Amino acid sequence: MASQDAVEEARALVEEAKSVVAFTGAGVSTASGIPDFRGEGGLWERFDPSDFRYERFLEDPAGFWELRAVLTRSLGLEDARPNACHQALAQACKEGVVEAVVTQNIDGLHQEAGVSGEDVVEVHGSTRRTRCMGCGERWPIEEALEAVDAGRVPPSCGGCGGVLKPDVVLFGERLPKDVFDRAQALARGSDVMLVAGSSLSVYPAAGLPEITLSQGGDVVIVNGEATGLDARASVVLRGRVETVVPELLG
Ligand code: APR
Repeated sequence: MASQDAVEEARALVEEAKSVVAFTGAGVSTASGIPDFRGEGGLWERFDPSDFRYERFLEDPAGFWELRAVLTRSLGLEDARPNACHQALAQACKEGVVEAVVTQNIDGLHQEAGVSGEDVVEVHGSTRRTRCMGCGERWPIEEALEAVDAGRVPPSCGGCGGVLKPDVVLFGERLPKDVFDRAQALARGSDVMLVAGSSLSVYPAAGLPEITLSQGGDVVIVNGEATGLDARASVVLRGRVETVVPELLG
């Protein structure tokens, strides 16, 4: 459990900072019932990540979608609600304590908690929508899942008939340049990056806190397990993000 001294030290860094940016991972949504990837019981214990690589989607969109629909439904998005960590971050954004939330998460819970759209940078996209590979139009994920259930695979665009892709960044796929440029700019400009609920194991996103460090900023890590950046963080708070983050920002 995070020591009170460490929490106070982190609070002081946040209070003194001119710009605080939050960087979140799947660990901030587990308390909302959405499994993470590499923690205990995580998604990659039940699914093989190589089945969801971009190359696989391009080679076999039908087979990709049959498995992707099962994974998407296993997230339980329809029942997931923001938890105390999402709410504390949203309140901190409203108060101007946190400038923006850069998230690796694709569940949309930061927005649902009240962080305005332009203050959430989804570096891995969103599983709540699909994008047409032909015309670029975006559609709700539910329509694609219904198509898969009806045996219409791969799901096709209601506009141009093109193949739909989950609007998430797949392994082996480049991150959207404009989105990642913004995330890097936020990391460069922040005095404190608050990293919550991430194993920091997937690059280039995991390199964002290192940008803050390289500019002389501080990194505060709140996580249930050790990460590869703990040794370089100014403060490491070991504990549940839904408990520690509200205490830190409250
Ligand atoms: N409180 C604190 N820490 C938690 C909690 C919690 N309630 N729940 C889980 N964790 C921790 C886990 O112990 C783990 O260290 O959060 C971390 C989540 O790490 P990952 O599952 O690897 O998730 P993330 O870092 O977001 O993964 C990055 O990998 O598969 C890709 O695209 C996917 O965006 C994802 C990326």
